[in-house]
This record gives sequence, structure tokens and C-alpha cells, in this order.
Amino acid sequence: MPRSSVVVSPAPSRVERVATQRRYLMTPPSHFEISYAINVWMDPSRPVDRSLAHRQWDDLVAVYESLGHTVERADPAPGLPDMVFAANGAVVVGGIAVGARFATPQRAPEAALYREALFAAGIGVVHEPSYVNEGEGDYVVVGDTILAGTGFRTDVRAHAELARLTGREVVSLPLVDPRFYHLDVAVFALDDHNVAYYPGAFDADGRAELRRRFPDAIIADEHDALVLGLNAVSDGRHVVVPDEAEHLMARVHEAGYLPIPIDMSELRKSGGGPKCCTLELRPAPGATELRPAPGATELRPAPGTEPS
Ligand code: ARG
Repeated sequence: MPRSSVVVSPAPSRVERVATQRRYLMTPPSHFEISYAINVWMDPSRPVDRSLAHRQWDDLVAVYESLGHTVERADPAPGLPDMVFAANGAVVVGGIAVGARFATPQRAPEAALYREALFAAGIGVVHEPSYVNEGEGDYVVVGDTILAGTGFRTDVRAHAELARLTGREVVSLPLVDPRFYHLDVAVFALDDHNVAYYPGAFDADGRAELRRRFPDAIIADEHDALVLGLNAVSDGRHVVVPDEAEHLMARVHEAGYLPIPIDMSELRKSGGGPKCCTLELRPAPGATELRPAPGATELRPAPGTEPS
């Protein structure tokens, strides 16, 4: 059992936090390296330990599976070292995928590979987009709403395209700090109604919008953000979070969730964390079949996904 799957007990809290079973698409870091720099975290002169990156990725998969979630694997491709960051490959809501169109030529070939991987995973509708967008890297799904980043990678015109293709409300949030170049390193969904975020990644209008929509949000501090603590993955109860984000984990725990610390330090050299490695495959309503793992007792069908 990986060290990172040890959890503490929940803090006494007014609300019971309920996990729902998730399905994720992930790509092993078989070709992971830093051979170019497309964000301020990446330094090609600094060595990376690919086998350590692989162990950290394996630990993340083991944590998800121990929580009863399903992990589908996409095939890694040589020459595409960032393919491990599956979140950038698409966004999938209601059983419909909107594929990525990468901002940089280094990652451009990943878009078609992810569309194929999504078909292979049984997603029946996979749109090829017209505008540059980096999938869940810049799209954070909170219930029926999609928060959408722009400023470094995703073209703001992609936000309207996403709204049209999915029928969801899409809320544009400009990103202003190059260290937080994707939305998913600045905010994550705790559940369908609440988020945690780092205010310094947003402009004044974005901060006001987040305050208005999420008055009970967990506010991360700069240290939390700089260890990519906001690149966390929640199933509504368990929050898989980079282990150096102590302040954020304490707030998450106080709010009644169970932080599950994980070490993703090697992948962070590329500017990524657990969420970047994880593309959630959100099913069409009524399409899920719950397959809880042995020992996973806290799973419930996601609202609207009960088999009818
Ligand atoms: N090196 C990758 C890039 O700059 C990291 C992507 C991280 N992914 C994410 N979802 N934030 O594109």
C-alpha cells in the first residue's frame, strides 16, 4: 500500500461529505522528460528521474483504485513527454468529450491521440474543437457549471464553443500569474457546490466572481499554490492533494473532507500534479454502473447517474 494512501479521520463537521465513484483516464509517464520549456516550472537543464516519476504516478493510480474509482489507461507516445498530463487531453461532461487543441507545437500531436483514447474508452461523442483549449487544464467542472481559464493557454473563444457543445454554463476567469498558467493549478472542485482556490492567480473581477459564487470556498495561501496544492482531485469526500500543502490540507480537513497526501514532486518539475495526470470521464445521466472496489464502503451514485 503506498504511503500516500494513509488517511486521517475526518474532523467533526456539520456536514457529511459523500464520495461518488469516478472514472479516470490516465497515461503512464513512460516517456516523461523535460526537453523543452513551455511554462515557468520547466527547466530542461535540471535532471528528472523518470523511474521516480513513474513510482509517484503508480502511487496515484493505487490511491484512486483503493478508493473504488476506475482508472482507464491511454497509451503514451514517444516524443510526447507531457502526455502524462492527461487532464489536458479533453474535458468530458455528460458522456460528451470536447477534445483539446494545444497552444504549443510541442504538445499539438497529443490532441488526436486523446480523442482516439476517449473513443477507445467508450466515450461516444468526441468533438474536435475549433479554438485552442487545453482541456481540464483550463476547465474545472463544478456541478453543472464549468469554470474556464484563459490568459496563458486556452483561447477565450473556446469557452463559448464549450458552452455550445455541452449546454453547460461556462464562466471565464482570466489567469494573471505565469506560475499558475492553467486554471487547474489555481482552483479545484471539492464537490458539486464548492471549490478551493488561490486568489492571487486571478484578477479582481475573477476574485469577485469566485467570492460571489462560492462564499464558503477554501482559500489557499501562496505556499499551498506554489507546491501545486490546488492541483488536487476530490471525489466529494477524499481529496488527493500534494503532500506539502499543509495549510490547505488542514482547511480541507476542517471542512469535513479527508485529505489524502501524495508526493508528486518529480512531475511538478514539469508544472504538473495529481489533477494534471487525471482526466475525469463524467458519464451521461443514467449511464453508470457502480462497481465499488472491495472495502470501499462510502461510494454513492453521483446525483443524476442512478441506473433507471
Ligand atoms: N508541462 C506541461 C505543460 O506545460 C504541464 C501540464 C500540466 N497540466 C495541467 N493540467 N495543469 O503543458
